[in-house]
Amino acid sequence: MTLRSYPKVELHTHLEGCAPPALVRDLAREKNIPLQGVFDAEGHYTYDNFAQFLKVYEAVCTTLQTPQDFYRLTRAVLEDSASHGVVYQEVFLCPDFCGGGDLAAWRDYLAAMVQAASEAERDFGITARGIVTIVRHFGADQGKITARCAAETAGDFITGFGMGGAEDYGRAADYAYAFDMAREAGLRLTSHVGEWGGPDAVAETLRDLRVERIGHGINARHDADLMRRIVDEGIVLEVCPISNIVLRAIPPGTRHPIDQLREAGARVTVSTDDPPFFHTTMTAEFAYLADTYGWGPSDFDTLNQTALAAAFCDDTTREAIA
Ligand code: ADE
Ligand code: ZN
Repeated sequence: MTLRSYPKVELHTHLEGCAPPALVRDLAREKNIPLQGVFDAEGHYTYDNFAQFLKVYEAVCTTLQTPQDFYRLTRAVLEDSASHGVVYQEVFLCPDFCGGGDLAAWRDYLAAMVQAASEAERDFGITARGIVTIVRHFGADQGKITARCAAETAGDFITGFGMGGAEDYGRAADYAYAFDMAREAGLRLTSHVGEWGGPDAVAETLRDLRVERIGHGINARHDADLMRRIVDEGIVLEVCPISNIVLRAIPPGTRHPIDQLREAGARVTVSTDDPPFFHTTMTAEFAYLADTYGWGPSDFDTLNQTALAAAFCDDTTREAIA
């Protein structure tokens, strides 16, 4: 079996962040949307730092306007993932980019994404689940609107709730109301933290949002007590090695600390985050781990088993994928 065809379970991807540049160019052309500063001369997404990355990301989102656009996006993304052996993928979805948080509009967008996901399951053999996600720098009030969309559509496809965006915006506690609402609706919880923020930010998120998984969390490694807590409580880290390298969330020229997190006993998983933005794929992530740390099939099996155990799906789905 090649690295590419090896079956993979991926927990941390942003739907818009997976948008193939060619699709975004098509959408921009069809709608006459001028996209400035989004592509480099080779047609790849371009930015110099994380703040600019978020700006380019939001510019890409302006081309995604209708439920049909999100249908096309979802189908393209899942087809591409399946071609890299991904058999199960969780996707962060933002009502902010799907009708601005209006519940009726969100239902229409979601129906289009669910349709694409169910066709992708039939056509490409990949199962997807959606995690409704707050964009942190849009603020806590908007976060509550997002949580309402999540709570009202929780079910077979929407199984989780999360938060991404600028980690230095506000405090975790500002978003506790939204996370409480999602938890009460039966949704499973994750949040980005410790990608840019330090151990204190990770500890605050665990305390105030009571998440069971953490997006990135790599900076927890700087605090032994926090690492012990993550290990003892079985908190799962959604580690995105190439994202961290490309965005310089780890010091340039250093090896990714995933081995350190794993050796400390943390439950680590591997994902691409926003593959075309970082020139990555799940095949490339596995290749990086094989080249850098000599990881092989038994390590990849462990990654998959950890991810599947932590997946926001029911046991019937889990057993069907295993
Ligand atoms: N949204 C998309 N990618 C992200 C990342 N790496 N960190 C925070 N928010 C994001
Ligand atoms: Zn992310």
